[in-house]
Amino acid sequence: MPGHGSTTEAQIIHPIGVIHSPHVRAEETPIQPNFAEGVPGQAEILPEYAGGLADLDGFSHVWLLYWFHRAGPARLIVKPFLQDAEHGVFATRAPTRPNPIGLSLVRLVRREGCLLHLEDVDILDGTPLLDIKPYVPRFDYRAGARTGWLEAVDEQTAQQRGQRRLPAAGEP
Ligand SMILES: C[S@@+](CC[C@H](N)C(=O)[O-])C[C@H]1O[C@@H](n2cnc3c(N)ncnc32)[C@H](O)[C@@H]1O
Repeated sequence: MPGHGSTTEAQIIHPIGVIHSPHVRAEETPIQPNFAEGVPGQAEILPEYAGGLADLDGFSHVWLLYWFHRAGPARLIVKPFLQDAEHGVFATRAPTRPNPIGLSLVRLVRREGCLLHLEDVDILDGTPLLDIKPYVPRFDYRAGARTGWLEAVDEQTAQQRGQRRLPAAGEP
């Protein structure tokens, strides 16, 4: 097992596995799991970390933390996918971050040894997986949370842009 750094300087991160998905083109990949409903994928965990998967199958959803290995250079001001306006990168989920770490809440369908079968996957094929944590509504859900600039994005726009769909005839 790798050791743990203790400074605010560069840290070494060792992937625990790799994510497999049908997504090969970034510009065609849904932008969040809720826009990728039912899209299958797998997390293949390296054998040396298999022991850490014990008891995970009792959870219906897991958080995946991963490395946006195909992200462009970091930018502090970005235009997010859902709105044509600039925002600070930390107020968005854009991949072009100083530490390009992605976070997706996906459905855990079943475990087969070192392979986790998933759904609702919004992650490119071949993405290095950094960590897995169980989704626990008791810890992770906040009623009445404010959502900043996203509150101005209407549902139709969110669905179109989130699923990377072109507007259908009659849609603005
Ligand atoms: C807006 S990001 C959000 C991803 C994640 N759910 C999050 O909140 O951190 C979603 C986009 O990241 C891109 N993406 C997914 N995997 C990537 C990877 N390994 N490298 C670079 N970009 C990736 C895809 O284009 C996808 O549409």
